Amino acid sequence: MAPPIARIAIMTGGGDAPGLNAVIRAVVLAAARLGWECHGIRDGFNGLLAPGQCVGEPVVPLSARSVHGIGHLGGTILGSTNRGNPLRYPVARADGTIAEDDRSDELVALCRRAGFDAVVVVGGDGSMAIAECLHRKGLRVVGVPKTIDNDLDRTLQTFGFDSAVAFATDCIDRLHTTADSQHRVLVVETMGRYAGWIALHAGLAGGAHAILLPEIPFDTRVVADAIHARDALGWRHSIVVVAEGALPVGGQRAVLEAAGAGRAERLGGIGAWVEARLAELTGKECRGVVLGHLLRGGSPSAFDRVIALRFGAAAVRALARGERGVMVTLDGQQIGTVPLADVAGRTRRVPLGGDTIRTAREVGICLGDRPAADA
Ligand code: F6P
Repeated sequence: MAPPIARIAIMTGGGDAPGLNAVIRAVVLAAARLGWECHGIRDGFNGLLAPGQCVGEPVVPLSARSVHGIGHLGGTILGSTNRGNPLRYPVARADGTIAEDDRSDELVALCRRAGFDAVVVVGGDGSMAIAECLHRKGLRVVGVPKTIDNDLDRTLQTFGFDSAVAFATDCIDRLHTTADSQHRVLVVETMGRYAGWIALHAGLAGGAHAILLPEIPFDTRVVADAIHARDALGWRHSIVVVAEGALPVGGQRAVLEAAGAGRAERLGGIGAWVEARLAELTGKECRGVVLGHLLRGGSPSAFDRVIALRFGAAAVRALARGERGVMVTLDGQQIGTVPLADVAGRTRRVPLGGDTIRTAREVGICLGDRPAADA
């Protein structure tokens, strides 16, 4: 039987997402009810691995008082980083280059030295891969799925996604009136990495006329045809939503910065490329908007607050039940857990045969391809 828990830690890793503070609040309050102490590790795991780089205490005791009134706030009171992966920690070499170091053994030892009986890891796929490794090395770990991208496997939804989609939808709504008044094509680039969830859901909700996703390589001539078809019907404006990971047929993803020591590649720029191509092909005035990090900012939606609280409470419940090496999930209306090994290193992309894609096609949205029936 696992030894009883007296003290746990929580960390928030990777890109921030609305709802992180609600998770922290739920974990701290639920743990306190069981008589457990809870500590927050600052800036991902850097509070332990690089305490000198943190502003303030690198590890902070968290009480009901310290999490009072934070549930509705965006960001994370603990700070986060996507440059502190303990499995690929960036280390400066004498020649000025940066190498990667696996510091996971050291991290497990640091957690033990700090007296943490368990750690709640709140993050995306990168953080779940770290959590899985720490679990294999003997640390008691539970993961909580966070990301605006909604690309974590085995959970219907991550927290942060709903807020990002709501904001992107509001932006698209606003763009309709200006695009309409000026008879322009407006191209909106969203985040989402290699999955098109944000673009698809916001594009559908906002009534976009074309949506370009990483899952469906696109042809700008098909999009231009759709714009011409709208013009012929007297609809002289069009809204095109492009996911940052979308790529043209036979082309490349738009990368702003290649992957480097301890960090993933940065995507971006496909919106500007599509805008230029559509201007050329349609002869219409085209303008681009990049939503970027605005999608990560602001307060979590009510839905995200609720699932974030449910996820946080469920993480504590799982630990109390003796579970370890699992991630909490949303499956339909039910909260569950799955082994971290089932999630680590996997990306959940938009299923091409799914109902949402089908709906987009059925309501006449161009997805940048010529579906079999039209070919
Ligand atoms: O994973 C969340 C996310 O916002 C992606 O949608 C985006 O590609 C990436 O993070 C951006 O990361 P950064 O904060 O390093 O620019």
